[in-house]
Amino acid sequence: MDRYCVFGNPIAHSKSPDIHAAFAVQTGQQLEYTKRLAPVDGFAAAVQAFIAEGGKGANVTVPFKLEAHKLAGALTIRAQAAGAVNTLLFDEHGITGDNTDGAGLVADILVNAGAAIAGRRVLLLGAGGAARGAVLPLLEQRPRELVIANRTVATADALVRQFAALGGEGVLSACGFGDIAGSFDIVVNATSASLQAELPPIAPSVFHPGTLALDMMYGKEPTVFLTFAASHGAVPRDGLGMLVEQAAEAFLGWRGVRPQTAAILETMRQTL
Ligand code: ATR
Repeated sequence: MDRYCVFGNPIAHSKSPDIHAAFAVQTGQQLEYTKRLAPVDGFAAAVQAFIAEGGKGANVTVPFKLEAHKLAGALTIRAQAAGAVNTLLFDEHGITGDNTDGAGLVADILVNAGAAIAGRRVLLLGAGGAARGAVLPLLEQRPRELVIANRTVATADALVRQFAALGGEGVLSACGFGDIAGSFDIVVNATSASLQAELPPIAPSVFHPGTLALDMMYGKEPTVFLTFAASHGAVPRDGLGMLVEQAAEAFLGWRGVRPQTAAILETMRQTL
């Protein structure tokens, strides 16, 4: 049976085995998908050991996404743009690194939330790894404007320069949280502020009635960002849909078939 796993540290909390097991049942694919705790200083060795055991592919989560990017002998365009890898494919060509996080975000917005990106004003909060992975997939949807706001403006400026020649010209701009102008159709929180129950210091005026406010984080309770957004007329959406969609994109890369996600997302929601 083909073997896959997710590497992380910690890894006990990972929902990926449940998601991929459900995908396998739904698509009639025979595969095994497990969790693997890699030592913080032993990621590459853990990957090589898995390949030696016949592993066909793996997901990669915190804190190994940058190391996975370095380890891969070949990178997809979206992994190059993201500067990070969340999906590895092992075959006769060696180790290929992909990044399905941004595509997962876009699929969740378009399909699950039913919101258009084309022609819309989109605000991306944060300029770290999570935000960087979202930029190219968002630009590919041709928003009217994509504003990246970050606490450290220089990091957001660097993203604007990086993506200028990749569809960002005339669309992408950067600013600090206090300088965000106007309201947006979609606001994505890609900062890690929610982890500390903190709120990026944005004005309520970034939201208008019906703005889709999406936090990449998820949990049993809404994040402070989602509570704030909802209290100012936005439609809140957590990161669980993005999690399931990035998994579906990885499954597609490994198995050549994209699972239906709606029922699985509903099941995952009930088990939070
Ligand atoms: P990740 O991989 O989750 O993106 P990261 O690369 O460390 O993690 O990036 C964290 C992001 O969250 C950054 O944009 C960071 O802002 P800075 O670039 O100014 O550090 C942002 N961030 C973290 N804590 C924050 C907070 N309390 N308020 C606002 N932004 C925060």
